Amino acid sequence: MMSTDPLWYKDAVFYEIPVKAYADGNGDGIGDFQGLIGKLDYLEWLGVDCIWLLPFYPSPLRDDGYDVADFLTVAEQYGTFQDVKRLLDEAHRRGIRVIVDLVLNHTSDRHAWFQESRQSPQSSKRGFYVWSETDRKYEKARIIFIDTEKSNWTWDPEAKAFYWHRFFSHQPDLNYANPEVQQAMLDTMTFWLDQGLDGFRCDAVPYLFEREGTICENLPETHDYLKNIRRRIDASYQGRILLAEANQWPTDVRPYFGDGDEFHMAFHFPLMPRLYMGVRSETRDPIIDMFTHTPEIPPNCQWCLFLRNHDELTLEMCSGEERDYMYYTYARDPSMRRNIGIGRRLAPLLDNDRRKIELLHSLVFTLPGSPIIYYGDEIGMGDNIKLKDRDGVRTPMQWTMDRNAGFSGCDPAQLYLPVVADAVYGYQAVNVESQKEAPHSLLQWMKRMISVRKRFPAFGRGTITFLRPANGKVLAYLRRYDDVVLLLVHNLAESSQAVELDLTAFAGTTPMEVLGEARFPTVTERSYVLTLAPYGYYWLDLTLTPSDGAYGIEQMVL
Ligand code: BGC
Repeated sequence: MMSTDPLWYKDAVFYEIPVKAYADGNGDGIGDFQGLIGKLDYLEWLGVDCIWLLPFYPSPLRDDGYDVADFLTVAEQYGTFQDVKRLLDEAHRRGIRVIVDLVLNHTSDRHAWFQESRQSPQSSKRGFYVWSETDRKYEKARIIFIDTEKSNWTWDPEAKAFYWHRFFSHQPDLNYANPEVQQAMLDTMTFWLDQGLDGFRCDAVPYLFEREGTICENLPETHDYLKNIRRRIDASYQGRILLAEANQWPTDVRPYFGDGDEFHMAFHFPLMPRLYMGVRSETRDPIIDMFTHTPEIPPNCQWCLFLRNHDELTLEMCSGEERDYMYYTYARDPSMRRNIGIGRRLAPLLDNDRRKIELLHSLVFTLPGSPIIYYGDEIGMGDNIKLKDRDGVRTPMQWTMDRNAGFSGCDPAQLYLPVVADAVYGYQAVNVESQKEAPHSLLQWMKRMISVRKRFPAFGRGTITFLRPANGKVLAYLRRYDDVVLLLVHNLAESSQAVELDLTAFAGTTPMEVLGEARFPTVTERSYVLTLAPYGYYWLDLTLTPSDGAYGIEQMVL
C-alpha cells in the first residue's frame, strides 16, 4: 500500500534506475520499460518506496540522455508512452512511487527548439537560448565539465553567434529570462505530472539564470522560478515531490528549500565524500564537521543521502587538500578519475570489504535524511574503468549467472555496454539470484536494514545529537522523535574499538539492539562502555524500560 502521508518522502527509501541498464524486455540489448516492469516485484521485495528514473526521452545520447531532444515523449528504444503508464500503474499497485529526471537547464542541440533557434535572429525560438556576438560575457561563471570543455560559449556557424552552455557544448542552456521558456518548462512538468508521476529529480538547478558580474549560480531569479514551479504543483497535485540536484555547499543548498515552499528534498553532496574520508582516515571529524555546517531545514523538507550515483563520485565540494586525499586513497590509478571526481562504484571503492560497505550504508540509513541506493550497489556490483566517460558505473544490472547476467537475451555483442565479467565482480560471482538464495548475502542484509529502518520514523524525521566520546574513531549520535530515542554507534576503524559514552540522561534504560533484538546492559550513572568490532555498528533503542518486550509471561531478571 502506498502511504497517503503527504510527507511520505521523509521516511522513504529511494532507488536510482537508468532504464537502459536495468532489464531488457525485448532482447535488443538495451534495457526498457517492459524489462523494468518485470523487476518491480524485486524492488517491492527489497522494500524500496520510490524509484528515480534517469532521462528516458529521445536523445542523441551524447550525455546518456541528459541531452534531451524532446521532453514530451519516450525514446523508442525504451518503449512507448503506454509502457510508462503501465509502469506507473504497476509500481503504484506495489506501493512504489516513481519520480523522473526533469532536465530544466538545457536541451540537446538536436532539440527542435534549438534547430529553429539557430536558423535566424528572427526565428520564433531565437529567444529560447542564450545567444551572443561575443564569448566575453559571464566570465565569472566556472566551467563544470573541465575535462572536456574549454569555454561556456560555443560558436554556431549556422546562427553566426555564440551560444551559452554550462555543460557539454552540445547542450545549449535554455534562456530562462524568456517567459516563453519558463512557461514551456512548466508545461513539460505538468504534462508528466498529469500522467501520474510522483515528482521530479530536477537536474542542475543552480544554473537556470545568468547575470553579468555573478558566477551565474544560485541567483535569486532562479529561486523565484523554482518557487513558481512549486506553487504550480501545490495548486493542482497532491503528494508529488521535487528533489534538487544542486552540487553546492550546504549554506548554498539551504535556499533551495526556501521556507518549505521550494524543493521538498535536496541531495546532500558535500556529506558524501566525507563519509569515505571518515572511514579511510578512521576519524569522525569530517562527518560531524559537515553536519556542523549544515543549516536546519524547514520541517516539511528532507535531505537525500547517497553513497554513489550514475556520475563520478564528485569532489567538487572538497578543498584541494581533501581532493588530493580522496584521489590518493580511492583513485591511485589515474584512469579511475573523471572530471573532478572518481569514476568507480561503491564496492570497488571499499575494496569489496563487506564490513565497510555495511558501515557506510548504516550511516546513510541513520543520519538525517532519506537514503537513495544506486542500482546494483545492493549486491555490491563492480565497475569497468576502461569504459569512457561515466559508462564504467552504468553497466547492465547483474540478475543471474546466465548469459549477459540475465539482463538481456541478446547476442552479447549487441549489449549497450558489456557486462562486468571480471573474477571478483563479474556476474557469475555477483548477481541478484544467488544473493537471494544466500541468507547472509549483502542483498539480504540490505533488505533487512531497509525494513528495520522503516520501523523507526526517528531516522527520517528525528533530531540528531552527536555524542563526542574521547575515542575519535567512534561516531555516535542520538536520533530522537516523539518518545523514541535511538543511539547509533559506528566504529570507523579497521581495528576493534572500545568507547565510553555519557548516557547518564538515560540511566535505568536497557538498550535493545534493534537489528538482532538483543538486550544490552542497563545504563547506569557511570559511563556506558561499548566495544565494537572493526567497522562495527550498533543501532540501539534507548526507550525501552526493563519490563518492555519480555518474551512470554516470564518476568525478566535484570
Ligand atoms: C547529471 C549528469 C549530466 C549533467 C548535465 C548532471 O547533473 O547528473 O549526468 O551529465 O547533469 O545534464
